[in-house]
Amino acid sequence: MTHPSILAAEFPPPPQHSLDYSLTGTNARLAIEKGLAEAEWYQSPVPREILRSLLERRDGPAIRDTVLWFAMILGAGSATWMLWGRWWAVFPYLIYAVLYASTSDSRWHESGHGTAFKTDWMNNALYEVASWMVMRESTVWRWSHARHHSDTIVVGRDPEIAVPRPPDIVGIIFSLFNLSVYPKYWKHTIIHAIGRMTATEKTFIPESEFTKVYFKARISLAIYLGVVALALATGSILPLLFFGLANLFGSWLMVLYGLTQHTGLAENVLDHRLNTRTVLMNLVNRYLYWNMNFHLEHHMFPLVPYHALPQLHACVKADCPPPCPGLLAAYQEIIPTLVRQMKDPTHCLTRQIPQAKVCMAEGHVSAKFVSTAGPDAYAWIDVCASEDLGLADVIRFDHGLKTYALYRDEAGKLFATDGLCTHGNTHLSGGFVKGSTIECPKHNGRFHLVDGSPARPPVCRALATYRVEERQGRLVFHLG
Ligand code: FES
Repeated sequence: MTHPSILAAEFPPPPQHSLDYSLTGTNARLAIEKGLAEAEWYQSPVPREILRSLLERRDGPAIRDTVLWFAMILGAGSATWMLWGRWWAVFPYLIYAVLYASTSDSRWHESGHGTAFKTDWMNNALYEVASWMVMRESTVWRWSHARHHSDTIVVGRDPEIAVPRPPDIVGIIFSLFNLSVYPKYWKHTIIHAIGRMTATEKTFIPESEFTKVYFKARISLAIYLGVVALALATGSILPLLFFGLANLFGSWLMVLYGLTQHTGLAENVLDHRLNTRTVLMNLVNRYLYWNMNFHLEHHMFPLVPYHALPQLHACVKADCPPPCPGLLAAYQEIIPTLVRQMKDPTHCLTRQIPQAKVCMAEGHVSAKFVSTAGPDAYAWIDVCASEDLGLADVIRFDHGLKTYALYRDEAGKLFATDGLCTHGNTHLSGGFVKGSTIECPKHNGRFHLVDGSPARPPVCRALATYRVEERQGRLVFHLG
C-alpha cells in the first residue's frame, strides 16, 4: 500500500506566534485549550510480536557499556593526574571532560527512562550519578523529562525546548561551555536546598516529590562544598577540574548531539515525525550517545531500550521522513533554519512524511478487541481466544465507552485493569509487562498488576482492577 505524502504545513497552524515559552503564561493556557497538552501522538504501526521482542530488557549491554565508560573516564582522569604539571596533560584532561560532561547526558537520559538495564536499582544508581555529573537535579529533571515526552516542543508546556524562537545564538555558544547551565543549576539547587520550589516547577512536579528535591539539593551542595574544601586543603585546582569545571571544557559534544534532536522543526504538532530528527551516526558516536541519534524512534516508542533502537529504526523508517545521513548534514539544515528564524520566528523546517496510517490492523500493537455480544447474567463478557494473549503480554479491550487492558504475566497469571494510564492519556495496551507490573508506553511509569497500585513514577494514582478468567479456550472479563 502506498501512502501519499503530506507536508507539515498541512497540519493545523500553531495556536500562537508570541514568544512566550514560559509554562505559566498565555501559551500554557492556549496549549490546553487547543488540545495540545497530554494529547495522543501518532505512532507508526509495528507488529506486536516485533515490538514485544524490541521491548525486551537486558542487563548485559548496559553493564558492558557502563563498565567501559567508567574505565575510560578513570583512565583519562588518572593520565591527567599523572601528567599534571606538564602542558600535555591537557589532552587526557579534555578527553576526561568530554566523557564526564557530555556522554553522561545520554546515560542520564536512558537510565531515567528505566530502560538501560533490566535491573531497576542499576537504572536508579546510574541515573543519580549521571544526573550529578551533567549538573541536573535528578528528581526535577525526571518530571521535566516526563512533560517533554507528553508535550514535545509544545510551546507553554515543554520545559525542555532547547532553542526557543527567535534563536539566541550567543546563548547557544555559551551552552557549549555550560555557561548557561552553571547559573541556573546553582540558583535552583540553592533555592531547593532552602526548601523552596519555583512557580514553573510546581506546574510539572507533584507536591509529594518536593521533599525529595530538597533533600537531594542539600546532598549535591554538600558534595560540591567537599570538592571545594579538598581543593583548598590540597592547594590544587585538580579536584575542581575533575568535578564541576569539567562541564566547562567538556559539554560541547552534548550540545552538538542534543541540538540535532528537535532544532528548527515544527512546534505545536502531535506527530514526532514533524518535530523530531533521526541522524545516522558512526559506531563511535552511537556508543558515546547511546543511540539517541535514533531520536524520532525513541520519542515514538520510549519503552524501547537504547540497544534495540537500530532495529526499531529499520521497522519504522518507511513510515518516517528520511533520516539525516550524518551530523554534518543535520547542521546543514539546522544552521540556515536558525539564521532565518532570527528574522522570522514562525519559520520552521517542513518535512514530507507518509500519510499517517490510521487503520491499525489486528496484529499491530494498537489493535484492540471490541465486544460485540453483551455480558451474561453475571456480568461476564467474552473478549477473545485465550491464545490472543501471550505470556508477558497485554491487549486492549473496549466495551461501551470504556477501555480496559488484559494482561498475562510470564508465569501465565491473568490480570485486568482500566485501559488508560492514570498519569496521562495513554493506552496501557502499548506498554510492557515487566514481572507483575505494566510499564506505561508514554513515560515508563509502572503499576502493580495485582492491585493496580503505582510502582514507578511519574504514576501516582492507582488503576481500577477487574477479574478475568480463562474458560474453554476463551478469555472472559468481569464488568464489575
Ligand atoms: S502517561 Fe505518563 S506514565 Fe503513563
